[in-house]
Amino acid sequence: MTGKPKRSVTEITRRLAPDAAGIGAAARILTEGGLVALPTETVYGLAADARQDHAVARIFAAKGRPRFNPLIIHVPDLEAARRYAHLTPEAERLARAFWPGPLTLVLPLLSEAGLSPLVTAGNDSVAVRVPAHPVAQALLRAFGGPLAAPSANPSGRVSPTRADHVLDGLEGRIEAVIDGGEAAVGVESTIVGMVENPVLLRPGGLALEELEAALGHTVPIPAMDPARPVAPGQLSSHYAPRAEMRLATRPQPGEAWLGFGPQDQGATLNLSPAGDLTEAAANLFHYMREIDSGPGTVVAVSPIPETGLGRAINDRLRRAAAPRPAGG
Ligand code: TXA
Ligand code: MG
Repeated sequence: MTGKPKRSVTEITRRLAPDAAGIGAAARILTEGGLVALPTETVYGLAADARQDHAVARIFAAKGRPRFNPLIIHVPDLEAARRYAHLTPEAERLARAFWPGPLTLVLPLLSEAGLSPLVTAGNDSVAVRVPAHPVAQALLRAFGGPLAAPSANPSGRVSPTRADHVLDGLEGRIEAVIDGGEAAVGVESTIVGMVENPVLLRPGGLALEELEAALGHTVPIPAMDPARPVAPGQLSSHYAPRAEMRLATRPQPGEAWLGFGPQDQGATLNLSPAGDLTEAAANLFHYMREIDSGPGTVVAVSPIPETGLGRAINDRLRRAAAPRPAGG
């Protein structure tokens, strides 16, 4: 320990110029697991390395998201997209027609993609977008990997179209914002589900009519049916453990035990022995899978504080512990 005062919770958010020096600095921050807000042609995105669990967990912490919604990965071109997702012939057609641009495709995830499961919320599909903004393109090429990036606003607030808006909401919670001026489109990308037949999951910057013209057929908008939720992120079935999960203060004999915090000595796995919520979020999907492949058929999960990222972790655990439909 030096005598220097420790940095308080409030960090300095750097405002970077959209030039080679600024983009180089942003790429280094991302490589080190930091968060950088970047301009895209739709809205500003809050980016992290999509392969680093801890970096992706920090996106949810910075935004204060109460749920682990799956995130869009951003790549520079179609060739890069093929490293992470399978593109059907129709997906290829849309990609060739509209990438780079305000179109996101939800595609089957490749098993060798190497993405953090927090990006896909444990699903076997991934949302992929190729942004057209020159600054986003330059950063993706300088960084050389996939960037997970939701809109750069605190959860529940409007999406930012200027660096000042980003700082209004996230100053002190992220390492940097690249100031690339005004986002031209101003609404988010159009999201098309391409796991089965194409469906419109979110209207956005690319018109439905243009999609349909490129495909030569209509693209249905799934009807809202409470029995079959189709809101983005709920469409594909979330990873449900085979083992029965029970939220408990202590395990019973014979149960596997997913712990949290220093007092949980002897847990089968501990989400964060230090009691750190960002670390727990980074480990959550990995540990749920690992404990599920073990011998216990019942898993007890220690209580997690209902604050900050704890809310999103608890939401996921509660859904894993909820009674399931017979045969499901
Ligand atoms: O224009 C945009 O798309 C902006 C810029 C920054 O690129 N990004 C953006 O991301 O709007 P976000 O995280 O705010 O919205 C992502 C949406 C969410 O509604 C999420 O549920 C859905 O995409 N989504 C992501 N992955 C999905 C998946 N595998 N299946 C279904 N929906 C998915
Ligand atoms: Mg958003």
